[in-house]
Amino acid sequence: MVYEERIFLVGATGNIGKPLVQKLLTNPKVALTLYARTPAKVQELYGDQSEGKLEVVQGGYDNQKPFKDSIAGHTRLFLLIQTPGFQEGHIHNVRNFAETAYAAGVQQIVLISGFCSSMPWRNNIVANLGYSWESGIDSIPNRKNFVTLRPAFFMSNQALGDALSVKNYNKIIDSQEIDSFKPWISPDDIGELAANILQDPIEKHGDAVYEMVGDPRTPKEHVEILSRVLGREIVYEKVSEEQSYEIMTKQAGMSHLVAYTFVFLTAQLANERATPGLSILLGRQPETLEQWIEKNKSIFL
Ligand SMILES: NC(=O)c1ccc[n+]([C@@H]2O[C@H](COP(=O)([O-])OP(=O)(O)OC[C@H]3O[C@@H](n4cnc5c(N)ncnc54)[C@H](OP(=O)(O)O)[C@@H]3O)[C@@H](O)[C@H]2O)c1
Repeated sequence: MVYEERIFLVGATGNIGKPLVQKLLTNPKVALTLYARTPAKVQELYGDQSEGKLEVVQGGYDNQKPFKDSIAGHTRLFLLIQTPGFQEGHIHNVRNFAETAYAAGVQQIVLISGFCSSMPWRNNIVANLGYSWESGIDSIPNRKNFVTLRPAFFMSNQALGDALSVKNYNKIIDSQEIDSFKPWISPDDIGELAANILQDPIEKHGDAVYEMVGDPRTPKEHVEILSRVLGREIVYEKVSEEQSYEIMTKQAGMSHLVAYTFVFLTAQLANERATPGLSILLGRQPETLEQWIEKNKSIFL
């Protein structure tokens, strides 16, 4: 089979990667190469594809030799780096992936950064990390096109904390004011926007930066939605910032910096509005929090 383009994807087996790859697989003109630590996971997620449609290169962030050996012949690179501790951040790895890719002839990189990258210089460790990633790629001499997605708070984050407290106590527990907004975005929207960009003509998006807030909701609305979808009453328990920090460090085992930053961002990002024009980029309205919870309600049961 002859394809018009081959797209290389790093970090495409998670929340964003799944909808992204599934959408790209429906395009008969493109072939994909996935960079993954566990090839068997790729097979399990995306099944058997016709010859050449989906190839897997086994590799991680620190040893990029498998990437270097296989990136030639690709026109575009999707780059998502997972950083549980934020401050460690793989800053050099991000730039190295990008430098190698441009040098091998890649014409467009689509990076998953974050909404905090739009905040003031060194405002917090997440902002600092995103800024370092973006400036690392942006400053590569003679680089080609560089598109950045800056999504806000993933709806899939509910699986980490909210789902447990809903399951066990019928509660959402947070330090956020009950009537202030949390800037939610569905990972399906992020994957779909990345897929759109990776299939559009490269010059259409150039060096675009796209913020992504899909459906901002208050904690009051959040528990109303959960109660409606789950068919039982879910309530909101507002705790102090100190209590929230305690829960994250003592019960969830988070480090000081990560827990502190979550408390800080909960208040700092309250009342962000939905991103103007997101429906233009998606070709439809962004997914609502209610639609996401309906689709994923098993995590709360
Ligand atoms: N959660 C939020 O609210 C939020 C907000 C803004 C931005 N972000 C950004 O969004 C990204 C997370 O996206 P996601 O939810 O789709 O992540 P995810 O579901 O955790 O998936 C992470 C992906 O990265 C791969 N990966 C992890 N560690 C790796 C390593 N050492 N070497 C190679 N691959 C590795 C995983 O591959 P395997 O299959 O090998 O595990 C998987 O494909 C991060 O960059 C984060 O900073 C998140």
